[in-house]
Amino acid sequence: MFVTALAEDAARVQAHLLAVLGHREDLPLTDAMRYAVQGGKGLRGFLVLEGARLHGVSPDQAVAAAAAAEALHAYSLVHDDLPAMDDDDLRRGQPTVHVKWDEATAILAGDALQTLAFELLSDPALGSAEVRIALVAGLARAAGAQGMVLGQALDMAAETSATPLTLAQITRLQAGKTGALIRWSAEAGAVIAGADPAPLAAYATALGLAFQIADDILDVTGDAAKAGKRLQKDAAAGKATFVSLLGLDGARDRARALVEDAEAALLPYGDAADTLRHCARFVIARDM
Ligand code: IPE
Ligand code: IPE
Ligand code: MG
Ligand code: MG
Ligand code: MG
Repeated sequence: MFVTALAEDAARVQAHLLAVLGHREDLPLTDAMRYAVQGGKGLRGFLVLEGARLHGVSPDQAVAAAAAAEALHAYSLVHDDLPAMDDDDLRRGQPTVHVKWDEATAILAGDALQTLAFELLSDPALGSAEVRIALVAGLARAAGAQGMVLGQALDMAAETSATPLTLAQITRLQAGKTGALIRWSAEAGAVIAGADPAPLAAYATALGLAFQIADDILDVTGDAAKAGKRLQKDAAAGKATFVSLLGLDGARDRARALVEDAEAALLPYGDAADTLRHCARFVIARDM
């Protein structure tokens, strides 16, 4: 079962993060950081570990990179939920960090999770200095003003845009806010192994878009108790999504086509990539 494989990897990555944070003094920020990395599906960490396995790199060797992806992702969620952004009070079934503590703690815990991600990538277990610099540079690009942060900026700007975004504009927005980190995560194992990451990059580009379309569909049709976050908010907030542009059926068709693209990109790996194929199907079938 794919969900079992995902949960096992998520537990491994979370244990690594909690061990790293456990070595630190128990300050309010450490507490909030620990809180923010718990729960969640662990998709990005799984992609790192599975991409590594595909290249003969063990989970023990790659786990620091998987933890970096999840720390970066956790930071992005803490900030995404802030009142100035999506203003949400529920995340992973728990009060958001700024509700449980306060806004300053949420901003600072997010900042600290972001720098923790890069600290994790300096771990010598990941390989040579060249490998670690490639991972650091790749994550910086994926997360920054040309990647995730750009996507988040476009997402916020769309809320007040006078005209609806085009398909090309929404695709660019989502490739940034969700796609860039998913792509870095899928490529990391190949980077650690010194292999060509191009097929995994093509897989992840399709997977990331399908993942965000599923998130947008969930916002309309999902159950907050299962998703662990508030839903039915995007339309009222004026978010630009594939659902707002194509409708539910159109968005579902697009997500299915993207999953086919993702699976096709895995052809060079043969059967060894079956778990990644299951992952692509899971991403659009999930209810959380
Ligand atoms: C939610 O990501 C934010 C998006 C990029 C859509 P996930 O659905 O992966 O959140 P968790 O980590 O499982 O909580
Ligand atoms: C969040 O996207 C993307 C990032 C955190 C970078 P959403 O705003 O759609 O995610 P949810 O729906 O709050 O999980
Ligand atoms: Mg958002
Ligand atoms: Mg949000
Ligand atoms: Mg959403």
